[in-house]
Amino acid sequence: MTAGPNTTLEPIERASRDEIVALQTARLKQTLAHAYAKVPAYRAKFDAAGVHPDDLKTLADLARFPFTTKQDLRDHYPYGMFAVPLKEVVRIHASSGTTGKQTVVGYTRNDLDMWAGVMARSLRAAGAGPDDIVQIAHAYGLFTGGFGVHYGAERLGCTVIPMGGGQTAKQVQLIRDFKPTMIVATPSYALNVADEFVRQGLDPAACSLRLGCFGAEPWGEGMRSEIQTRLGIDAMDLYGLSEVVGPGVACECIEAKDGPVIWEDHFYPEIIDPESGRVLPDGEAGELVFTSLTKEALPVIRYRTRDLARLLPPTARAFRRMSKVAARSDDMLIIRGVNLFPGHIEELILKQPQLSGHYLLEVFREGPLDQMEVLVEVKPEFAHASGEMKQATAKGLQHEIKGWLGVTTRVSILDPGHLPRPEGKARRVIDKRAV
Ligand code: DLL
Repeated sequence: MTAGPNTTLEPIERASRDEIVALQTARLKQTLAHAYAKVPAYRAKFDAAGVHPDDLKTLADLARFPFTTKQDLRDHYPYGMFAVPLKEVVRIHASSGTTGKQTVVGYTRNDLDMWAGVMARSLRAAGAGPDDIVQIAHAYGLFTGGFGVHYGAERLGCTVIPMGGGQTAKQVQLIRDFKPTMIVATPSYALNVADEFVRQGLDPAACSLRLGCFGAEPWGEGMRSEIQTRLGIDAMDLYGLSEVVGPGVACECIEAKDGPVIWEDHFYPEIIDPESGRVLPDGEAGELVFTSLTKEALPVIRYRTRDLARLLPPTARAFRRMSKVAARSDDMLIIRGVNLFPGHIEELILKQPQLSGHYLLEVFREGPLDQMEVLVEVKPEFAHASGEMKQATAKGLQHEIKGWLGVTTRVSILDPGHLPRPEGKARRVIDKRAV
């Protein structure tokens, strides 16, 4: 593994807090005015809340403005939240939520330029440079992952392999033949790639990759070490969401690996109490909210991400960081009155040396009681382990889950390849209680 500090930062990445705040305040004023003037839905919301863009004097005044949610975008499907005429929109993406209509997002030429810039900055923070060959294993299409990373990598001057998602055997073939130094994918897919090497009798840690940027789904520190060890790379966390821009809202720096740095000159973050909507001080856990500072086609004002995180002080860059998003508020499971997130279980699974990051939680009702079954595969090297060993591992995990999270679960240990292999975002929970 190689890690080294970057020396070619943009001036804003080393700016003082005062400079950053001044820039944010000026840009925020422009964004509020733009949204109010050009998007009737924002005007109506601001008016209803009794606020006007001129009321914003300092960043703290933003708390007086109303939130925007996915529902707002759905209510104005497809183009109703756009702040420019369609002829100025040069790209459309969409995110398919699990329910309801797609959320449609649009970009002007300047928006695409900004996006490529923050994405290039992200990859540079992750340790990449013009000498790197980057294999992009995110889907290209309406999903922002493929194209978003692509233009950022080109901007940085990398050699891009636009492989796209899926076709895992071909991904491995390309890694062997084209010798990329970096891969960008979902963390769950990175494990699929490692498994495919093993299936072909090859050692994934010996491949040409040295870096990886992973995101689009929650993943914990256990998953990071699993990916780093198996692929022999440094694994960095890349965060983003379609409504805010796509990948490249925040990314970890290789020299610190201490949570994604938020590109605060373009995206203003807040943490709120998800129940009351109150803004929380830095360091406290709550829901991440973003306001775009430079977007033209689709300015978002106080967009509620549903992602749970904390805002952390700057380290490797002048900007604040966010803690890794361990969970989305929508993903919380309530099992017999106990609140838990799939990520909690993931961390406990990955503490067991025999178990892999391929897992699925099935929740169902038995009589009046909630039940949860943890289905998890062993690592390929334990594929032929004895039944006793598997039973002991199951018992161990059950014990850990009961001890740490307070719920009794069933655990089924499976051989490699028994669980579905997602090509994009992994589905971690099947909740059969609702049906
Ligand atoms: O997933 C954008 C993206 C593409 C990010 C590629 C990183 C890499 P959406 O499909 O709109 O956009 O989904 C956004 O995915 O609100 C989070 O819940 C989750 N998410 C994205 N990045 C991370 C991450 C893309 N690094 C939603 N850690 C977000 C945890 C993440 N969750």
